[in-house]
Amino acid sequence: MFSRIGIIGAGAMGRGIAQLFATAGQQVWLHDTRPEAIEEALAFNRGLLERSVAKGRLTPEALEQTMARMQPAQHLAELAGCELVIEAIVERLEVKQALFVELEGLVAADAVLATNTSSLSVTRIASACQRPERVAGFHFFNPVTLMKLVEVVRGERTEPWVIDRLVALAEQAGHFVAITPDTPGFLVNHAGRAFGTEAQRIVSEGIATPEQVDRILRDGPGFKMGPFELFDLTGLDISHAVMESVHDQFYNDPRYTPSYLAAQRVAAGLLGRKTGQGYYRYENGQQIRTPDAPVPEVIVERPFWLGNIDPELRARLQAVFDGCGARLEEGDEPSDAAICIITPLGEDASAAIERMGLPADRTLAYDLFSDFDKRRVLMRQPALDPALEAQAHRAFAADGVPVEVINDSPGFVSQRVVASIVNLGCEILQKGIATPDSLDRAIELALGYPRGPLALAEHYGPLNVLDILQGMQACYGGEARYRPSPWLRRRVQLAAPLTTPDARAGSVSGSTAL
Ligand code: NAI
Repeated sequence: MFSRIGIIGAGAMGRGIAQLFATAGQQVWLHDTRPEAIEEALAFNRGLLERSVAKGRLTPEALEQTMARMQPAQHLAELAGCELVIEAIVERLEVKQALFVELEGLVAADAVLATNTSSLSVTRIASACQRPERVAGFHFFNPVTLMKLVEVVRGERTEPWVIDRLVALAEQAGHFVAITPDTPGFLVNHAGRAFGTEAQRIVSEGIATPEQVDRILRDGPGFKMGPFELFDLTGLDISHAVMESVHDQFYNDPRYTPSYLAAQRVAAGLLGRKTGQGYYRYENGQQIRTPDAPVPEVIVERPFWLGNIDPELRARLQAVFDGCGARLEEGDEPSDAAICIITPLGEDASAAIERMGLPADRTLAYDLFSDFDKRRVLMRQPALDPALEAQAHRAFAADGVPVEVINDSPGFVSQRVVASIVNLGCEILQKGIATPDSLDRAIELALGYPRGPLALAEHYGPLNVLDILQGMQACYGGEARYRPSPWLRRRVQLAAPLTTPDARAGSVSGSTAL
């Protein structure tokens, strides 16, 4: 372990990192160019520890011992004896490079230099150093002590012993470690791009409103927060800048294309909670939500035809429809009066209607990725008779479960967001940015998703996810944004679990040592 740890930058991140390691028993020295920032950080940390004492989670003696392990360092030179220095200063390449160059003149030749950067290349920061092999990324999340994940980022020239020592230190402090190569957004900020960008795309095509998208994703796949609430919480200026940066760094790969609508909203100052207006309005810090659309007060005269829907769903729908006297037809073909319900995967309703030869004025789609007991999602298409849409809405809501009606889309809302998350997760595995062991855990810890990409795929079925992606790609004229990752396609084709690793490139398998 490291006997002395220096931390530079006593802001939101530096003070959290100091607290994490002091709590784990390490001696830390905290430095900042603004002396008052160090004092504020130590006072802030004391306040947090006092709250733990008040809750009975910490003894007053342990509080004092932890505080004694956090020393202020007024001058950078006081960090000379540190075996590890972690910087959490301003996010500017040349400032971080200059700091590391200065540190190299102070610390021992085998001291480790770590950067908490969230968006800069670790390799580029290290490139200014005489010994870039001892530089690594040590990327924590805010707030550091509660977010139990850290990315240990391997720069192009970082040596394995540096990674090993940082991993051991973080694990000893109780954090889960994801080791990742130095790529744009590292692991988490890369994997997190699918959720928001696909949601923006859905809204930009007029498929659903931001509030509908949030409701559907909360009540269907079970995200704690919808993407638009999350934009409001983070600040759209921050999120949009990350989206643009990742997109640029991957040389405009369309998977990451941000939304022009978000750029406009940033320009308009509609940033979220901090400006009082984002996708939602905020009054006294409270998010103002619009209520669900009212259920149309119509009589359901028409029967429903469900095609080859699975028998269990058919029985559940029958029970709901009984509540408003709606009848289900039995035949293989719909009668001339029937409202037809289809359940496409990755295909929009228009394409499915044409393929199945169904009457467009009376056919709607139901999303199999909805949670039947929480919120049912129906999809109309341009030729649907509005009077029949109203009857379908009324029938699906007959037991009081809310119903969301959206416009035509390949994959509704949930299917396309889930498929995009899985696809990006698979692409991250394909590129060796995460391993099947680290991917889901890192994402659940850092992003709070109900399931990581691989578990989402397992839940909905990897073949279904592949079908959805292929359907989306076909619907959008072969758009490369939706191209399935080879990692996903190969494992579905071979009926192998998505966790099956690739062999290391260049390794010789099946050979016997001589
Ligand atoms: P912050 O603005 O709260 O704190 C930065 C501190 O560094 C300030 O107290 C400032 O006085 C000090 N500082 C600036 N230049 C310095 C220098 N040359 N020498 C010594 N001290 C200097 O910033 P925050 O949010 O703590 O971020 C710090 C780093 O951590 C950045 O690289 C950021 O990208 C990264 N990061 C931030 C996260 C966040 O959610 N805030 C999450 C993960 C990483």
